[in-house]
Amino acid sequence: MLPPGEPDPNLLVGLDTSDDAGVYRINDDIAMIQTVDFFTPIVDDPYFYGQIAAANSLSDVYAMGGKPLTAMNIICFPTKKLELKVLADILRGGADKIKEAGAILLGGHSVEDNEPKYGLSVTGVVHPEKVLTNAGARPGDVLVLTKPIGTGIITTAIKGELASQEEIDNVIQVMATLNKNAAEAMAEVGVNGCTDITGFGLLGHASEMARGSSVSMTIWSELVPVLKGAREYTKMGIVPEGTRGNLKYISQFVDFKQNVLEEDRLVLTDATTSGGLLISVPGHKSQQLMKELADRGVREAAVVGEVGAGSGKIIVTNLP
Ligand code: CO
Ligand code: CO
Ligand code: CO
Repeated sequence: MLPPGEPDPNLLVGLDTSDDAGVYRINDDIAMIQTVDFFTPIVDDPYFYGQIAAANSLSDVYAMGGKPLTAMNIICFPTKKLELKVLADILRGGADKIKEAGAILLGGHSVEDNEPKYGLSVTGVVHPEKVLTNAGARPGDVLVLTKPIGTGIITTAIKGELASQEEIDNVIQVMATLNKNAAEAMAEVGVNGCTDITGFGLLGHASEMARGSSVSMTIWSELVPVLKGAREYTKMGIVPEGTRGNLKYISQFVDFKQNVLEEDRLVLTDATTSGGLLISVPGHKSQQLMKELADRGVREAAVVGEVGAGSGKIIVTNLP
């Protein structure tokens, strides 16, 4: 037993650093990763919604450098308003992603609610010395992003019935893709830090990493992979409220150079669902990481910036 108020030495990642998941050391070889996430439908198709919610929940384990082992369903559903077939399709989508991740579904819990909500509580494992926190970025690192951004903007365009079928299919595919292959590439190479891109957008999560690691970051706006259509919708004002809130909040930590357009600032802070990994890799290993990613089919991965000395500031600029 620990004396009251004494920190537990086995707690490797807790609440303090706004990281992706909690990490607790079981013994010298195994630390347990725990995370939970759930949300309301992001696309109309219940099967794809289930896939996306599960991929998003599993992602926080990958972002810590771990492997998911077990998952539990969390489900809210209006059984009087919607057919049970919808519920079955959501759960089937989730189950397919859990299986693809190599994890096992152990159970879950459901409650009656006015609006569906779905997600997973996931338990994973990692070697205690291989935990990838958002405090590990070092000056000289290169930043690699493994999926395009703009999912919030495109899903808002879908809700407004503006998106083309191609844009719909593309955003579903991006959000439903597991970060498993990206995580395997990063484990192969050995990197300094990682987080995944979700609700606070690329700059929000990069900023957490910059502050957590006490470094500065430069992001080259033009190099960031962006979903087709996202910039155009942003110019039309099709932007989720969360994204506008993110940009307002993040401005205190970000120095936008004048050549970065307003629509790009919004895209870079777009509230994301099931985004890619943002990886901080030592500069001399960045080409190797890009190759390992490509070999595993993570084709939209891109180098988006670099890490410098400093204390938490982000500079966003275009290439000279
Ligand atoms: Co996360
Ligand atoms: Co999360
Ligand atoms: Co991490």
